[in-house]
Amino acid sequence: MEAVKIGVLGLGTVGGGVVNILKRNAKEISRRAGREIIVTCASARDITRERICDTQDIELTTDSLEIINNPEIDIVLELMGGTTLAKDLVLQAIDNGKHIVTANKALIALHGNEIFVKASEKGVMVLFEAAVAGGIPIIKAIREGLSGNQIEWLAGIINGTGNFILTEMRDKGRDFADVLAEAQALGYAEADPTFDVEGIDAGHKLAILASLAFGIPLQFEKVFTEGITKITRADVEYAEELGYRIKHLGIARKTAQGIELRVHPTLIPAKRLIANVDGVMNAVLVQGDAVGPTLYYGAGAGAEPTGSAVISDIVDVVRVLSGDPEHRVPHLAFQADAISDIPVLPAEQIQTAYYLRLSAEDKPGVLADVTSILAKHNISIEALIQKEPLEGNTRLPVIMLTQTTLEKEMNAAITEIEALSTITGSISRIRLETLG
Ligand code: HSE
Repeated sequence: MEAVKIGVLGLGTVGGGVVNILKRNAKEISRRAGREIIVTCASARDITRERICDTQDIELTTDSLEIINNPEIDIVLELMGGTTLAKDLVLQAIDNGKHIVTANKALIALHGNEIFVKASEKGVMVLFEAAVAGGIPIIKAIREGLSGNQIEWLAGIINGTGNFILTEMRDKGRDFADVLAEAQALGYAEADPTFDVEGIDAGHKLAILASLAFGIPLQFEKVFTEGITKITRADVEYAEELGYRIKHLGIARKTAQGIELRVHPTLIPAKRLIANVDGVMNAVLVQGDAVGPTLYYGAGAGAEPTGSAVISDIVDVVRVLSGDPEHRVPHLAFQADAISDIPVLPAEQIQTAYYLRLSAEDKPGVLADVTSILAKHNISIEALIQKEPLEGNTRLPVIMLTQTTLEKEMNAAITEIEALSTITGSISRIRLETLG
């Protein structure tokens, strides 16, 4: 049978990884796919640049339209990133009847609903395994492996850069900015690194996972995001002392009222496996009603781990190339006419426990005032440590863990506590999940 021909938009790190794996593992991959797979053309901004892959047999062009309009091409790989040109090219390629494989989480999170409608009209597949958690086959696991379950919640370390920063701060006492610069040099960070540290990148990935888990449309705009820039060394140490680790988690949870979608620094018990996922590694914990907790771990970025995910999608497309378009695996796991309109909850309705750190005056009655405000808002304290004041300082750090409460109540309590004359500055609040 004739080889399947691939055209690549954007021959950078991931594209180079794909080309290298396809060449090295050609025999094994075609044994799985049933056809030979070859990259015949690729577009790049600068075709003279040195690449990590051999481009001898690949026709290079600066004009992506040449690829999407090429009748020889069966599958277009969108690896250029961005959401403007990438979206236009993907929609045009779909119009031209091309199947799409993309690693672009922002594109899927922001424009996936529109792209999938068009793909269904045209009877083509759009696959995006590489968009979430790099090499971990988490999309396939949720969409296919767990399709017998009601997914109750999932929680993931889905940004390697953020995890690398928190790990280095904890283990080596390094500064935030210094570790971020290293992540950028290693090629893990986004073009705009605020996407990593402010939780935007993880928010894109969470929106995708939540759609697949709960059968809801992609709704990135409803994801609550909080970054890691305010986490201090002191918070990391106090958390350790209490038996917790701080991780930047993406959490999606189905409740009776709706769906919580949130990315924020989170205290989790140090004994949980996911608390021990360090460096740039990613992990996603998925709780299904039948299977119980399942944990997926691996490299969340990098040329070949991400290339591995891209190729698994290519193989899926190749396997069904001649199949009936009506009976393919649905883009968002659930059949298009069975997508539900269950609401995504506003941040104030999140239910979680909290770590609070406040700076209090060292005199009788201060803690009583704080705890009575918490009690008024029905917030129960789980643990409390009061530290010695630092030398020459009349203020002392107080660290509290609370039981689960409504975010709205906590917001109100924090406002009242910060207004006390005996409390200085703002309260550090980190959400806490036991993930049990
Ligand atoms: N900037 C992302 C990360 C790359 O650090 O995880 C992979 O999506």
